[in-house]
Amino acid sequence: MKASEIRHTFLKFFESKGHTIVASSPVVPGDDPTLLFTNAGMNQFKDVFLGFDKRAYSRATTSQKCIRAGGKHNDLDNVGYTARHHTFFEMLGNFSFGDYFKHDAIQYAWELLTQHFKLPAEKLWVTVYSEDDEAYEIWNKVVGVPAERIVRIGDNKGGRYMSDNFWMMGDTGPCGPCTEIFYDHGPDVAGGPPGSPNEDGDRYIEIWNNVFMQFNRTEDGVMHKLPKPSVDTGMGLERLAAVLQHVHSNYEIDTFVALLASAKQAVDAAGGGDCDADSASLKVIADHIRACSFTIVDGVIPGNEGRGYVLRRIARRAIRHGYKLGARVPFFHKILPALVGQMGDAYPELRQAEARVTEVLRQEEERFFQTIERGMDILDTALATGTRQIDGETAFKLHDTFGFPVDLTADVCRERGVTVDQAGFDAAMARQRDQARAAGKFKMAAGLEYSGVATAFHGYEHLNCDTSKVVAVYVDGTSVAEAQAGDDAVIVLDHTPFYAESGGQAGDSGEFRNASTRVVVEDTMKIQADVFGHHGRVVEGSVKVGDSFAAKVNAEVRAKTVRNHSATHLMHKALREVLGAHVQQKGSLVNAERTRFDFAHTAPMTEAQVRQVEALVNAEILANAGAQAEVMALDDAQKSGAMMLFGEKYGETVRVLSIGSSKELCGGTHVKATGDIGLFKIVAESGVAAGIRRVEAVTGDNALAYLQSLENTVNSVAGALKAAPAEVAGRIGSLQDQVRALEKEVAALKGKLASSQGDELVNQAVDVKGIKVLAAVLEGADAATLRTTMDQLKNKLKTAAIVLAAVDGGKVQIAAGVTTDSIGKVKAGELVNFVAQQVGGKGGGKPDMAMAGGTDAAGLPAALAAVAAWVGERA
Ligand code: ALA
Repeated sequence: MKASEIRHTFLKFFESKGHTIVASSPVVPGDDPTLLFTNAGMNQFKDVFLGFDKRAYSRATTSQKCIRAGGKHNDLDNVGYTARHHTFFEMLGNFSFGDYFKHDAIQYAWELLTQHFKLPAEKLWVTVYSEDDEAYEIWNKVVGVPAERIVRIGDNKGGRYMSDNFWMMGDTGPCGPCTEIFYDHGPDVAGGPPGSPNEDGDRYIEIWNNVFMQFNRTEDGVMHKLPKPSVDTGMGLERLAAVLQHVHSNYEIDTFVALLASAKQAVDAAGGGDCDADSASLKVIADHIRACSFTIVDGVIPGNEGRGYVLRRIARRAIRHGYKLGARVPFFHKILPALVGQMGDAYPELRQAEARVTEVLRQEEERFFQTIERGMDILDTALATGTRQIDGETAFKLHDTFGFPVDLTADVCRERGVTVDQAGFDAAMARQRDQARAAGKFKMAAGLEYSGVATAFHGYEHLNCDTSKVVAVYVDGTSVAEAQAGDDAVIVLDHTPFYAESGGQAGDSGEFRNASTRVVVEDTMKIQADVFGHHGRVVEGSVKVGDSFAAKVNAEVRAKTVRNHSATHLMHKALREVLGAHVQQKGSLVNAERTRFDFAHTAPMTEAQVRQVEALVNAEILANAGAQAEVMALDDAQKSGAMMLFGEKYGETVRVLSIGSSKELCGGTHVKATGDIGLFKIVAESGVAAGIRRVEAVTGDNALAYLQSLENTVNSVAGALKAAPAEVAGRIGSLQDQVRALEKEVAALKGKLASSQGDELVNQAVDVKGIKVLAAVLEGADAATLRTTMDQLKNKLKTAAIVLAAVDGGKVQIAAGVTTDSIGKVKAGELVNFVAQQVGGKGGGKPDMAMAGGTDAAGLPAALAAVAAWVGERA
């Protein structure tokens, strides 16, 4: 039975038992920053199990795309070396949300396996949680599995509920005891039954896990009973396919046979020759193309942090395995058509994104192929010393300079039984981070020692605070009691209306005043998460700890900044609408001048897309909807559908900013209503890195100024053309036509001029032993004119040896021609070189016509004068 038929049979079986077939959720969980990747079928139902969310159905079944390459469930290191580990796999599952429980779950599983998939009952073993007598009894008494094939497993992983038979999604979330079904691949394969010392062998393979969801585990480790006991099951499609296709390794099932063949073909074509079809490296590649492609489908691109880094690690690991097999140019992306062929029907989103995935992978491969060879040389040299451990510095250099993620280095080392000094690597990384920080713009703010009160921020509501108290003053990076007039200081206040740079929004500027003192604040940055440093110059008086000031934000600059910030949210939303949901923020900078927004997308935006985004944002502005900020629990924010960024450390409560149709987590300052933005205009669109585009835009009076300056340019061009602005394009077009016509005319005239010069030259020819010799300069001629004139002169002089030269700047062009009746004596090629040598050049051609160039025009007169004598020697 093919994998696709197994998937179909599973879903249809549960549909016949009243389950709704639900589509796989993305591998990137959109609304759960606690989860790196979707790692189980139940992820998309987490809130339903917890009782927070309700669905129209109480039974569901899915075939879920899962990734286990980071976080609690991580199989990356095992891939390629075992028969059944994958970074990406498909989990078939059935779910009950407070509907059926243990009885039905167990009996459905048994019915499907033995009657529909026709697995022999005696080949199936089961495990139950040691305390779960109910499950034991159902297996034994109701289903009839003999006691010797039912294994009880307790807390075998070092703590209460830490057990192979107690399943948890992560450190927190729904969990419960489980019963697992194993298939016995027979005595030919090594390994013992579950719970035995040899259980890790390949003989008894777990194929299906049925979890009885009963608890929610919170961060403090407490198990809270779920409102309703539920069922969550997961069966690895690849493992079941191996059983049903009578093979022992997942890599022998139909899906992988196709992927392995395509991987081999791609590697061979890229330099692998005829690589070993059984190599573990090909398995790694065939596995990794699935994980990489499906993460890219869901909007991840290779990068240096978070999910992007996991993707980069997997992709580069695959590329390195291809390199090991001999590939020297990109090959990995060429496996896409085979993958789409295998999985495009079940997951149409893959087929739809094929071109984009191919492009992202191709770019990543091109990058890595630039450095992989030198990196491998360095690693090979280090390994050649016979060391048992690669030092942290080498691993760091490979990471930093040659783009080798440390686990890739470890992967290469493991093949030779060598380890990597992870602690040394971590230390080198930490050192580099510190250096980068010290060298950065935030040197002053970040390095300051402070242990006082947090800054109370009033800047969402107010731009002035009349009684802000100084709690710390720094000059030249050290804490001082007093800063004097003329000093550049960093000042911390107990409360402030100044926004400190964060979340991409620039810090506020403004001033502090009291009766004797004035401080001009240029910027505000965080010293610590909740301590703001005001960077400014003491213009009059002095600043002491304890002084009280009226702190006043520069309202105009702030207003410009908030316009740009609010417009960024609307633009983010519009970009997702126009380009697709894969658009994810990769960085942003908002200040008084403009907004700069980086996002994941592979192709340049077309002009039409840019216009569409502008139109959507301006429509929101015209609708003049209010903006609301609401502080709420992270959970509630997730449920409200607010956009959040993976990898951001959000606290337990977050600020959700709703403006127009956008809803995002944001700590920044914003307009009161969209209409305040005035006007939104994109001014640039460019690429900043592989797979990342950048849009820059202006708002309000900056947008007006931008349009006015464009209009000024158009007006001045129109003025010069003496045309109305609307006619400019047409006029320039006709001017270009005119220029082209004139160029043609000039060329024709030049030809005529040259040939009339030719007529005059006929008279300058001298007779040398019966050959007319002529050596002359033809003013203003180009190569074509030299040739035509040469032909005319040959016709007129009949028996002749001719040299014509043209000078343009310091450069010389030379043509030599000899009439056919004289080529027995004088060769044009030799003649042209005789002249060319004397002007620093060289040339060649046929005996009757040759061309040369030279760079030293000063030698030309003498060279031409010598031609007659040269011919005389040969005639
Ligand atoms: N959620 C369970 C698992 O992943 C079924 O094994």
